Amino acid sequence: MADIKCIGILTSGGDAPGMNAAIRAVTRSAIFNGFKVKGIYRGYRGIMTNEIVEFKTQNVSNIIQMGGTILKTARCKEFMTPEGRQQAYENLKAHGIDALVVIGGDGSLTGARIFANEFNFPIIGLPGTIDNDLHGTDSTIGYDTALNTIMECIDKIRDTATSHERLFFIEVMGRDAGFLALNGAIAAGAEAAIIPEISTQVDQLAELIQNGFRKSKNSSIVLVAESPVTGGAMALAERVKNEYPGYDVRVSILGHLQRGGSPTAFDRILASRMGAAAIDALLDDQRNVMIGISNDEIVYVPFAKAIKKDKPIKSELLNTLHRLSI
Ligand code: F6P
Repeated sequence: MADIKCIGILTSGGDAPGMNAAIRAVTRSAIFNGFKVKGIYRGYRGIMTNEIVEFKTQNVSNIIQMGGTILKTARCKEFMTPEGRQQAYENLKAHGIDALVVIGGDGSLTGARIFANEFNFPIIGLPGTIDNDLHGTDSTIGYDTALNTIMECIDKIRDTATSHERLFFIEVMGRDAGFLALNGAIAAGAEAAIIPEISTQVDQLAELIQNGFRKSKNSSIVLVAESPVTGGAMALAERVKNEYPGYDVRVSILGHLQRGGSPTAFDRILASRMGAAAIDALLDDQRNVMIGISNDEIVYVPFAKAIKKDKPIKSELLNTLHRLSI
């Protein structure tokens, strides 16, 4: 193993429930293995601004149950420039940090990959995003909690949808991916999910209308993944109002509440396992890899593979939703 004594840890990009559990796991596992740990505040920006503090085991006490990230997070434009990254490298060296654990989504891991290659700097990534859009891992930290939040919201919306016999379009996050919309729809027993992965291939809305939504019910719930490809829930509702005026349509955009809340047991355990695995990876001399979970086993996924766009959606999930919504 290269001579690593001090590991820096940061969270970057959109926060996700379970990031704190990951920070705790990385910190404690690193200290357990004899490393010094430094918490870097506000993502990559904190490296530029020297917001760096030594973390002891007590710094991460009582946080496993908390949503958000105690390290704060940011999206940092400066880090995208070669000059910014040079400055970051010098600051890390000045703080005696000789490896990084970066917790974040594809933008954060893209930054990690570039930096690691430019400076031959050891970095391990942890997939922290509610979007579940990273390759090589069955689940990302925060995805399960966000799914549960979506499910609980839809359970509530269903009460009013049923009472008024309305068609509801519920827009969920996911950036360019439809995982939250599709699995949220299955979990909540919705009629359909309109997702970017298939939006360009078929007119999903026209198909739904022609099939009369769920024929056995007067109310319907359709999840819509936020994305320019789906057009979003508002645009779909407008279309229904104009093209199919018989429907009483309403829209609900769940927004940032999907990112908050105490992480589920699944996310806490996932984050704890991945955080510990990040330190094992450094001890194993792994570099430029994201920790993933596949068939309940920890795996190392090269950054280049993890951040590839268009993680595929399983057609079996689409078929299940379709079959169960008759
Ligand atoms: O990547 C996580 C995510 O919540 C996406 O689902 C969403 O598109 C985006 O971040 C929103 O970002 P912001 O909080 O910066 O508006």
